[in-house]
Amino acid sequence: MIEQIEQEVEKHYGDPSVDLEEKIIQALRKEGKDINNLVWTDLNGLDEFHLRKREATVEMASLLNLQPETRVLDAGSGLGGPSRYLTSEYGCHIDGIDLSGVFCDVARSFARRFGFEDRLRYQQGSALDLPFADDSFDVTWTQHVSMNIENKTGFFNELARVLKPDGMLACYDIIAGSGEPIDFPVPWAKTQKISFLASAEEQKQAITHAGLEILSWDDKSQEALAWLETAQEKFRAGDARPLGSKLFLGEMFSEVMSNQVRNFQSGRTRVVQIIGRKTVKPDLVID
Ligand SMILES: C[S@@+](CC[C@H](N)C(=O)[O-])C[C@H]1O[C@@H](n2cnc3c(N)ncnc32)[C@H](O)[C@@H]1O
Repeated sequence: MIEQIEQEVEKHYGDPSVDLEEKIIQALRKEGKDINNLVWTDLNGLDEFHLRKREATVEMASLLNLQPETRVLDAGSGLGGPSRYLTSEYGCHIDGIDLSGVFCDVARSFARRFGFEDRLRYQQGSALDLPFADDSFDVTWTQHVSMNIENKTGFFNELARVLKPDGMLACYDIIAGSGEPIDFPVPWAKTQKISFLASAEEQKQAITHAGLEILSWDDKSQEALAWLETAQEKFRAGDARPLGSKLFLGEMFSEVMSNQVRNFQSGRTRVVQIIGRKTVKPDLVID
């Protein structure tokens, strides 16, 4: 069952028949960028698939005391936008893992193109079965991924397992609000089939059950809604970049954006930034 859902999720985000990197390069060319002299920041806005994009990444990163020797796992690393920011700003080493092989290929290629290949590695795989030894990372980082994962306990257990003792969890995810059904399609799912929104209580329980102490829980829904409304206005005025979330949403982009605004306005979805710390090993947790 998990495998079937993961295949659906992979299909949702990446069409293997499309040369995604070429598509991005073409879009940048159309914007007048000098393709032979691209810098990684030319991709700003195109390569982060979460609410408030870079602003949210900068904010969460600032809470983590990242250093060049910090080892970070980005679970659900997408096109690598957040990891390029983290290594460029803090110099840290990052392993990205994502279900989408297409996204991993593009992220790897951009790491090479922008000279980050000694610090950024990407591999296709599942966050529910991480190919890393216990106690490997100082930070496990994840943004807008758990909405596609039904087994929240399994997800946070894996993130905790690969964290060193005292390592930090940084999680920025959409959760359920009022509990009322949400409008589909949304960016992470065309239908209910691959959407699994936990309530705040369920998310907190899954995290603490994994042996992670929650140090902060910040609801960013107001900021996200304001950001979404501005993005929607820009889109309606024809002032939106040609790619961004349109990469995998295509023709549905406008409908998805309206649904996101409505889901947030009505309190059916919320977005939270969570910082946690590994205090005990999962196998020492007593129910
Ligand atoms: C909305 S995108 C966010 C990408 C990136 N974190 C960002 O913020 O730019 C969600 C990503 O999570 C990945 N994903 C979803 N479920 C996953 C799982 N079980 N294991 C690994 N990656 C997963 C998807 O393939 C997709 O790339």
